Amino acid sequence: MMQDFSQLDANGRLRHLITLEGLDPALIRELIERARGYLCRPGELPPRGDDLRGWTVANLFAEPSTRTRASFELAALRLGADAVNLDVMLSSRVKGESIIDTIYTLQAMQVDVFVIRDAQPGIIEFVARHVAGHVSVISGGEAHISHPTQGLLDALTIQLHTGGFRDLVVTIVGDIRHSRVARSAHRALAALGVGELRLVAPEDMMPEPDEFAGARRFRSFDEGIELADVVMMLRIQRERIAGAAPTDVDHYHALYGLTAARLARARAQAIVMHPGPMNRGVEISSEVADGPQSVIREQVSNGVAMRMAILAQIAESRRRRAP
Ligand code: NCD
Repeated sequence: MMQDFSQLDANGRLRHLITLEGLDPALIRELIERARGYLCRPGELPPRGDDLRGWTVANLFAEPSTRTRASFELAALRLGADAVNLDVMLSSRVKGESIIDTIYTLQAMQVDVFVIRDAQPGIIEFVARHVAGHVSVISGGEAHISHPTQGLLDALTIQLHTGGFRDLVVTIVGDIRHSRVARSAHRALAALGVGELRLVAPEDMMPEPDEFAGARRFRSFDEGIELADVVMMLRIQRERIAGAAPTDVDHYHALYGLTAARLARARAQAIVMHPGPMNRGVEISSEVADGPQSVIREQVSNGVAMRMAILAQIAESRRRRAP
């Protein structure tokens, strides 16, 4: 029988981070607070720490990544760790090595933290069940299922701009059905008590009815964006839509693209978010992406801070567990 698995240690602190499912809202708030301590203004030298001094962090990404991978590497380096990036598609896995053998190989090089992105559901928890007792595993994105660090950095970004969650209307737009970003945003925002979550998508990009509990669903973008405080745009996840992705991108843009005219229907101070990578002219116009309400590049900066906060809490957990 499989042993029960918990991503938390005996004190309820993060040992791994695989999912936001079931995380105590107080822990989420604490990570947001901690991440705020790692923020810096553009042009300033970034904050550093030595929480991970002597550690080694390995990024194992089996799907493309720019932001998540680079920000985990920078977060590790800025906390004093060594960092190694393994492009799984160029590794021995393509020669038939199992992921567990790859993990044991790197563990033999004294890797302390694995950051894993994979298209196979369940594999990140599977690895976490197999690593040595002092080793931690963090999800850098699991299939369409979850992207916990993105959910947390998005919550941080929203809090920095709005102050709180209770009275907010957050509208997520696009290919929600295939999006791990949307699923983790929903988890984080629900835990933080968001006022109203709206989903806007065409029929074939709407999630199943039993998902996204509590969210209101809209087919019409113009209705779903009405007086929203936060508008989160998503890319069409073509890699997860075998053959059925929209081919007429102009038509998609006309119905589900965020333009300045559409944004004018949201609250005047509404913020525009996008996890990246953006497809300009498809889900978002350049005018909006580069406009005054866009916080898209701030999300990237906040991502480094949030990943530092997560690594620092994991380091604390290990120090407390050490004999
Ligand atoms: C996202 C992802 O990989 O899920 N990117 C990211 O991590 N910032 C979103 C996407 O690929 O559309």
